[in-house]
Amino acid sequence: MQHITTVSQLRQQRQAWRQAGETLAFVPTMGNLHDGHLALVRQAKASAQRVVVSIFVNPLQFGANEDLDSYPRTLAADMAQLESLEVDAVFTPSVEEMYPRGLAAQTMVTVPEVSTILCGASRPGHFEGVATVVTKLFNMVQPDIAVFGTKDYQQLQVIRLLVEDLCMPIEIQGVETKREPSGLALSSRNHYLTDEERVKATVIYQSLQHVAQAVKLGASIPEAIQVALESWHTAGLREDYLQVCRAKDLMPPTDKDSELVVVAAAYLGHVRLIDNLSFSR
Ligand code: PAJ
Repeated sequence: MQHITTVSQLRQQRQAWRQAGETLAFVPTMGNLHDGHLALVRQAKASAQRVVVSIFVNPLQFGANEDLDSYPRTLAADMAQLESLEVDAVFTPSVEEMYPRGLAAQTMVTVPEVSTILCGASRPGHFEGVATVVTKLFNMVQPDIAVFGTKDYQQLQVIRLLVEDLCMPIEIQGVETKREPSGLALSSRNHYLTDEERVKATVIYQSLQHVAQAVKLGASIPEAIQVALESWHTAGLREDYLQVCRAKDLMPPTDKDSELVVVAAAYLGHVRLIDNLSFSR
């Protein structure tokens, strides 16, 4: 497995693979890899001859009061996991390599509408930071396929729109959320939770299942959400949002829409956790 840190090294390797006629799948991450990330890598391995994983904690997508400094950085352990999955190359650019003219001077990529609702409403500028870094990574890596998790449902929508609007010749694949046996979605931010909070956090997925089931059985959406929120409050979770949206564009569903997704963002103390569950009615 190669460890690449500069754009010029990456371009050379990309050129060699292209000349050999080999396809390339790409998995962008911020590191601190868990089984969710590894599921994306396995999907990438199954989809192309070569696989590149990036590890870059992107300062552009963190708000001023967010966890950029404390975000877990575990490069040695990450590299060992990727090595055992026989990834071809890991790309770990420095902040200077990624943003040589500085963050303030960086050209930004904005995907309107979807970027300002849900997580975008509580994290202004977040999806602009994501869209910008992913565009740069796509231009650096030049993959045929890129793999993302549906755990970050809204992020996946942003990426799909970005690729479509900017005519990028990249196939975007989504992989289902990996969970602990308790149902809690795997996340690097779970490390911030105490044992007791981890138990409380399982209420999030339980409530998503409850909402999906209730709506399928004909309950009104507001009623189902109300019941779920009561279980959050009992467990000591504070809501950022809990909503049922249209699966294809995250807009409010009409009675005719059958493909839905229930999306959640909850605070447990200072930790913000997100999850979602797609369902049909
Ligand atoms: P990060 O949070 O490291 O996630 C990297 C990828 O792993 C994303 O596509 C995310 O949806 C996926 N993922 C996270 N938890 C998962 C789980 N439990 N099951 C399945 N997939 C999971 O998302 C980012 O990094 C960044 O925003 C990034 C796209 C790299 C841009 O900086």
